[in-house]
Amino acid sequence: MYVCLCKGITDSQIKNAIDDGATSLRAIRKELGAMTQCGKCACLTKEILKDQLATN
Ligand code: FES
Repeated sequence: MYVCLCKGITDSQIKNAIDDGATSLRAIRKELGAMTQCGKCACLTKEILKDQLATN
């Protein structure tokens, strides 16, 4: 599922980045480039981050 349409980033890519140590929104932004354009994906990215950290 695409989370960031501007950059074409999927939830799997975000989860992988989190598993690889990107444990903040800032780190995900730096790693993948999500949230660097319209910013609409920030809310969903935050949810994914929260869920992923809770399950790890
Ligand atoms: Fe991610 Fe626009 S959808 S920056």
